[in-house]
Amino acid sequence: MKIAFFDAKAYDKPSFELFGAPKGMEFKYYEDKLTEDTAELARGCEAVCVFVNDNVNAAVIDRLYALGVKLIALRSAGYNNVDVEHAFGKIHVVHVPAYSPYSVAEHAAALLLTSIRRIHKAYNRTREFNFSLSGLTGFDLHGKTVGVVGTGKIGRIFIDICRGFGMSVLAYDKFPAKDSGLNYVELDELFRESDVISLHCPLTDETRHMINSEAIAAMKRGVVIVNTSRGALIDAEALLEGIKERKIGAACLDVYEEEADIFFEDRSGHILSDDVLARLISMPNVILTSHQAFLTEEALRNIAETTVNNISAFLEGDGVCENELCYHCGKIEHCKKQRLGRCF
Ligand code: NAI
Repeated sequence: MKIAFFDAKAYDKPSFELFGAPKGMEFKYYEDKLTEDTAELARGCEAVCVFVNDNVNAAVIDRLYALGVKLIALRSAGYNNVDVEHAFGKIHVVHVPAYSPYSVAEHAAALLLTSIRRIHKAYNRTREFNFSLSGLTGFDLHGKTVGVVGTGKIGRIFIDICRGFGMSVLAYDKFPAKDSGLNYVELDELFRESDVISLHCPLTDETRHMINSEAIAAMKRGVVIVNTSRGALIDAEALLEGIKERKIGAACLDVYEEEADIFFEDRSGHILSDDVLARLISMPNVILTSHQAFLTEEALRNIAETTVNNISAFLEGDGVCENELCYHCGKIEHCKKQRLGRCF
């Protein structure tokens, strides 16, 4: 089985090679992202392996289907970039539901601490032998309230970290975890009461722009917003306005709505045409990393292992691949729990 590996980065190949492709599986690495134009690279391949910024829309799926591709193997947990509904009945879709929720939760905590203790500023100063403390005053997390939106694998670990700091936790989830002991509140209360808000829910039609101008207006002055989930959870223009109006105290972003053509690449020396992003980066109270939260040795190892196992399970014929995403009954997560065999 030949697998076209799209958006391949320098750190991908070693982790996949370390794990070793099983017999009968050959990876063809392409640096290009999967689009309608690059889909042709999958000719002769039975599977494509994609990441978060490969745009696997209906047109791309039709193109892959015409080329005889049978499997889309996501190297990520989130699957908002794949039209799973359109793929149903044509191409199977598998993902890596968990590879290291610690990597993302710990990155969220790292961004938060860096931001509120101005570590990024201090680092630059001391490298130039500037030992002044002026403008570096932060605040204690102890005793503050954190609002966590999405209490799945990553959200729960982030909550544990915040509790370690002595923070009070408010939680919101569309499907609250029973017997978790978490203090679930409605979203508007979480917005109103939190000093720090961290997003850990998936991007869906419902959650797109959940942080918009109306939500920001309801928040505390000086609120710190952390987003390590998906960029489009936040209306970036509204965020910028909130920062300019001094309503938002700080923003810690690992993701950005329009990141697909920008993140993961060296753009230094180029003129950034995205004015909103350029303005956000220019703000002293915005910290941005380029979708880096997953990037730990442990996570890369687990991604490679689960992806290869997912593809092997598919190769083995009628076996159930527990990580298949299917749209059979219209509810992907529900379907995953209910089905006993392959969906089609
Ligand atoms: P998970 O599936 O374990 O948890 C997601 C939680 O969100 C669930 O509890 C679910 O009930 C909740 N949820 C679903 N719809 C919701 C809604 N409308 N409002 C509020 N909550 C809702 O997922 P996990 O592993 O915790 O990942 C969370 C997100 O983190 C992923 O969807 C992905 O977008 C992002 N992520 C980012 C990475 C990065 O490198 N920056 C890496 C991995 C994941």
